[in-house]
Amino acid sequence: MEFTISTDAPEATSCDALAIGVYEDGRELEGAPIRVDKALGGLLTEVMTEEKFEAKLGKTLVFHTHGKIPARRIIAVGLGPKSAATPDTLRNAAAAVVRRASALHASHVAFPPATLGSHSLEAVTQARVEGIVLGAYRFNRYKRDESGTIDRVTLLAANGEQRHVEEGQRRGAMFAEATVFARDLVNEPPNQMPPPRLAEIATEAGRKAGLRCSVLDEDAMAALGMGAILSIGAGSAQPSRLIVLEYTPPRARTSVAIVGKGVCYDSGGINLKRDDLEWMKSDMAGGAAVIATMKTLPALKVPVRVLGVVAAVENMPSGKSVKPGDIVRAMNGKTIEINNTDAEGRVILADALAYASQKGVDEIIDLATLTGSAIVALGYYAAAVMSNDQGLAQRLLDAAGRAGERMWQLPLYEEFLEDMRSQVADLRNSGGRYGGAEKGAIFLREFVDGKPWAHLDIAPTAFLEKDEGTTPYLPKGGTGYGVRTLLTYLSGMA
Ligand code: BES
Ligand code: MN
Ligand code: ZN
Repeated sequence: MEFTISTDAPEATSCDALAIGVYEDGRELEGAPIRVDKALGGLLTEVMTEEKFEAKLGKTLVFHTHGKIPARRIIAVGLGPKSAATPDTLRNAAAAVVRRASALHASHVAFPPATLGSHSLEAVTQARVEGIVLGAYRFNRYKRDESGTIDRVTLLAANGEQRHVEEGQRRGAMFAEATVFARDLVNEPPNQMPPPRLAEIATEAGRKAGLRCSVLDEDAMAALGMGAILSIGAGSAQPSRLIVLEYTPPRARTSVAIVGKGVCYDSGGINLKRDDLEWMKSDMAGGAAVIATMKTLPALKVPVRVLGVVAAVENMPSGKSVKPGDIVRAMNGKTIEINNTDAEGRVILADALAYASQKGVDEIIDLATLTGSAIVALGYYAAAVMSNDQGLAQRLLDAAGRAGERMWQLPLYEEFLEDMRSQVADLRNSGGRYGGAEKGAIFLREFVDGKPWAHLDIAPTAFLEKDEGTTPYLPKGGTGYGVRTLLTYLSGMA
C-alpha cells in the first residue's frame, strides 16, 4: 500500500473511491463533503436521504459519480454522534472505508482532510492511517483471496498543512506496520511457528532494525537455573527458547523491560484443555507484541533503553511433561508446585521476569494471554492491567487511551497471594477459580524483586475468533494488541 499526500481539492481528485465522513447528529455536511456535494449537484445529500443513511459509526454507503467528478465512486462512512467522536472513531471509520473499497475491488482510495476538535492534525492523521492499514489487513498466506487489495491511498491536505499530515502518516504507518507484524506472528499456524522459529524471526527482524539479539537455548537456560520455563517446555518435541532483544539509544537514562508470554501452542499439557484448542496458537501474542515493539524502537527514535524478553515454549502432554504435583525451581530460587499444567504462562514468566529484573532495569511491563478469568471479567473489549506501582499503571492506562487500545485496571489485594501459597513449595501455580486474573498477576509479582512492574493480561483482546462489526480495524484473528500502547508509552518517556 502506497501513501501519497496531495493538496488537490477532493472534488478534483481522481481515484476509485473517495471517502466522505458523515456525523450522525445534525446530518448537515461539514468541510470537504459540502464542496463534494456541490460538485455532484447535491447527489450526496440526496442519496443519503433516499437510502435513509443514518451515519452510524462504521456503516458505509456507496454510489457512483458517473463522471460528475474525477472520483469514480463515493464511499460515505458514518462517524456516529459528533459529541462522542475521538481519534478511535476516525480509525474505525477509515478501516470501514478500506474494507468496503477492497470488497468492491477499488484499489485507489482518497481521503479528504479531516479535523477533530482540539486533536492535532498529526494525531488525527495517525489514527486514520492506522485504521487504513489495519482495516485492510488480511492473513491469507494459506488461502486464495477473492477480494481486492488497496494499492494506493491519497491523503488530501489543506494548503500549508502537508507537513503535519506527512508526520502523522509516517507515525501511523510505523505503528500499523508493527501491529501487522505482531498479527502475522500470531496468525501463523502453530506447526509453522514453534519456539525456535519464533526466535529466528525475532533475531532476524531485530538485527535488521539494529537491535542486539541473543537467544538462550535449553542448555543456556539450565545453566542460569531457569527450572520453571524448562519444566513447561519439557513435554514438547519442540525445544524452548528465551529470546532477548536490546535497544540502547545514546544518552538514555531510564531503562524499561518488556516481557512477553510466548506459548506457541497451549494444549494445557497433562491438564489437557477441552475448549478453545484451535485458538491456542494465539498464546504467544504477548511475545509477538514484544518482538514487534522492539523492532520498531530504532526507527521511532525512542529515548529510553528497552530490554525485550520473550519466553517461548510449547505446552504439550507427553511422558516427559511436567505433572500436577511436580515442584520446580525458578531462577530467583523460589520453588513452585505445579498443581495445574494449564496455568503454564505464569510459570514461564517467573523465569523471564526474574531474568529481566536481574538485568537492573528501572521498570518491567509484561504482556500475556494469561487467564480465561480476564475474559470473563472484561469480555473481548479490554485488557486488564495489574501493578505494584500505581504511577506505572496510570501511565500505561494513559498511553493505552492515547493509542486507542482499551485497558482496565484490576486490584492486587494481598489476599490473592494467600491462595497461591503451597503446602509443599513457596508457591503453587493455580489457586481457586475466583479472582483468577488477579491471582495469576500476584504470582508474577513474586518474581520481579520489588521493582516497579505492571502486568497486562491480554487474553481478552489478543485474538478474535470472528470479525466484530463494531471495530472494523480489528479483523478476525490476531489483533496485535499492546503494540500501539507500548510504542506510545515508550516514545513518550523522557
Ligand atoms: N492461555 C490460557 C488462557 C487463555 C484462555 C487465553 C482462553 C485465551 C483464551 C492460560 O494458559 C490458561 O490456560 N489459563 C488458565 C489458568 C487456570 C488453569 C488457573 C485459565 O485461565 O483457565
Ligand atoms: Mn494454559
Ligand atoms: Zn496459556
